[in-house]
Amino acid sequence: MKVVLLGPPGAGKGTQATGIVERYNIVHISTGDIFRKNVKEGTPLGKQAKAYMDKGELVPDELVIALVQDRLQQDDCKNGYLLDGFPRTTFQAEAMEKLGLAVDKVVDIQVADEILIGRATGRRVCKKCGSTYHATFRPTKVEGVCDECGGEVVLRADDEEATVTNRIAVYHKETAPLVDFYEKKGNIVHINGEEDAAVVQEKIFAALD
Ligand code: AP5
Ligand code: MG
Ligand code: ZN
Repeated sequence: MKVVLLGPPGAGKGTQATGIVERYNIVHISTGDIFRKNVKEGTPLGKQAKAYMDKGELVPDELVIALVQDRLQQDDCKNGYLLDGFPRTTFQAEAMEKLGLAVDKVVDIQVADEILIGRATGRRVCKKCGSTYHATFRPTKVEGVCDECGGEVVLRADDEEATVTNRIAVYHKETAPLVDFYEKKGNIVHINGEEDAAVVQEKIFAALD
């Protein structure tokens, strides 16, 4: 199964991805996570990507496409994959088609802008293992400490309110047109992402089973 998770910043793509990849035994590929790992390790790719990410802008298409193409050729993708945060522009979606990278289903998680700001600014991420929490909706048992690994839990670099606001604007301009793109292909489902995360999960499973 080859699935694309579409949705604005803070919609819950990463949150929902965990359960989806487990249920369908596919790999989770988050371009954002890959970029953050590269930034952390100071690789050439990370250095290029950081400038864009810090402003809440998109990393140039060519960089992203090369990265995903390479990743999807790895052996663990044979059973299927869940793309989280890719494609994000019509150019990326068209490039996927040209490269023969299949998409069986697109899950579009819909959340209103007002809610997204609070989701992102309240998000806390473990520096060590990447587990995601929320100050209000999914707090850690001990403040600032990861439940999973005991690592330090911090605000993501691009989760300052001004950056989040720009990321949402970029989503509307660059990524939202993909809803129409996949609508025409007839393989998209829309999920209300404003409900409780567990309810959203059930609805996604029902759409994918
Ligand atoms: P990326 O990492 O993909 O960020 P994003 O798309 O902005 O999405 P987020 O990760 O912020 O949100 P999410 O939907 O995963 O929400 P989450 O589950 O964490 O990209 C970052 C940057 O990398 C981009 O800005 C760009 O620069 C670059 N990039 C990446 N891919 C690219 C591409 N293809 N092309 C070009 N550039 C690219 O949830 C958010 C919070 O809400 C959490 O705290 C969570 O606990 C909480 N929450 C989740 N669900 C619920 C719920 N139902 N109710 C209440 N709270 C909830
Ligand atoms: Mg995410
Ligand atoms: Zn952790």
